[in-house]
Amino acid sequence: MIILGIETSCDETALALIETREIKSSDGKVHTEYRIIQSLVHSQAELHSAYGGVFPTLAKREHSKNLVPLLEKILKDLPSDTHKKHPNFTETLESFKQAYCEQNADLLESFTHARFLEHIPHIDRIAVTEGPGLEPALWVGIIFARMLGELWNIPVIPVNHMEGHVVGSLLDNDKPSGAWQQLKKLEVPAVALLISGGHTELVEVTRHKLQLSYSLLGQTRDDAVGEAFDKTARLLGLQYPGGPHISRLAHEAGEEKIISSVKLPRPMISSNDLNFSFSGLKTAVLYAVQDAQKNNTFNETFKKGLAREFEQSITEVLVTKLQKAIEETGAQSIIIGGGVSANHVLRAHFAQIAERYSIPLFLPSMHISGDNALMIALVGSMKSETTAQSTPIHAHGTKKITE
Ligand code: KG4
Ligand code: ZN
Repeated sequence: MIILGIETSCDETALALIETREIKSSDGKVHTEYRIIQSLVHSQAELHSAYGGVFPTLAKREHSKNLVPLLEKILKDLPSDTHKKHPNFTETLESFKQAYCEQNADLLESFTHARFLEHIPHIDRIAVTEGPGLEPALWVGIIFARMLGELWNIPVIPVNHMEGHVVGSLLDNDKPSGAWQQLKKLEVPAVALLISGGHTELVEVTRHKLQLSYSLLGQTRDDAVGEAFDKTARLLGLQYPGGPHISRLAHEAGEEKIISSVKLPRPMISSNDLNFSFSGLKTAVLYAVQDAQKNNTFNETFKKGLAREFEQSITEVLVTKLQKAIEETGAQSIIIGGGVSANHVLRAHFAQIAERYSIPLFLPSMHISGDNALMIALVGSMKSETTAQSTPIHAHGTKKITE
């Protein structure tokens, strides 16, 4: 089966194609294997950096502009059956205009001019992110998926973005691209720590038949951890997305043995639950920056030291809560997902925890730690047998992984 994944929940426009097959092992068990045909990500981060964060209307406009050219590019990797011309392409396009032009004229405009869509490619399913994310951005991918589903007469499967981050971490990073592979074997119960620009969640992962199921152990009460990185970066005069910049400064502070004169809080580190709070940390950074500006000490050394102290605070909080979650659930493995998982200091600490508890750690490879459509296509393939498409898919900005 060939699945097209579509991801537009935030500031990355992404499409991916994967192929799946069932194989029987010597013990008679049937396993699903995956092959990545192509995975394309078009980042808008540079455009949003002027706003210090993702600007939803701009994200919507960019997704609407990017999707059709990305699709054209990705379809080149598929043998399209040139004999299979769409029987009534013009009428179908007309019906899309009626249905969606008001909601997204830009997307309809580029869709209408995509003559390559007259040919039906060999794709069996479409998987699209329905949430969580920015609703105007999510809607672009959803309308696109709905139109393609109707045009090609194939089912469209709604996928939770955070589940994408969980499953993406189970891909075998050592396999060369294009090779057949199975997802890594996950011992359950597992604890997943999901850390991104919009979310900070600890989730217990179990298995129900062939599907994974999730229950929420804890989450942030205010800012997400990625958001804290981005806001702190902004206060230090660094560009969006701030995570990589903070991480670089913190690394330099380590090399240069710079110790921050400011001690930041470790919010909720000793609370009895598995929740988080990062807005106080950002406020503490704000006060430290204001003081430094007043005292004329707001220089590179100060910034590096503060970035390191900030990263240490985040690390200590995440490490403490992750260990607590492992002990409370008796977790047999650890999954880390979301864009913040690209942070090297955090990765090293998560590896130490896995070693301490002698359980496997599943980290996404660096190229899929951020948002991508490969993870969406993977979840779509897992759900394709069980998801009956009864009602049209809608955007759910606050969709929970447990729903
Ligand atoms: O999962 P993601 O790509 O998008 C969302 O779904 O939010 O996560 C983006 C977040 C941003 O806040 C970005 O600053 C953060 O991941 N990030 C990092 C690093 N690389 C990206 N945070 C800390 N250290 C990094 N190296
Ligand atoms: Zn994400």
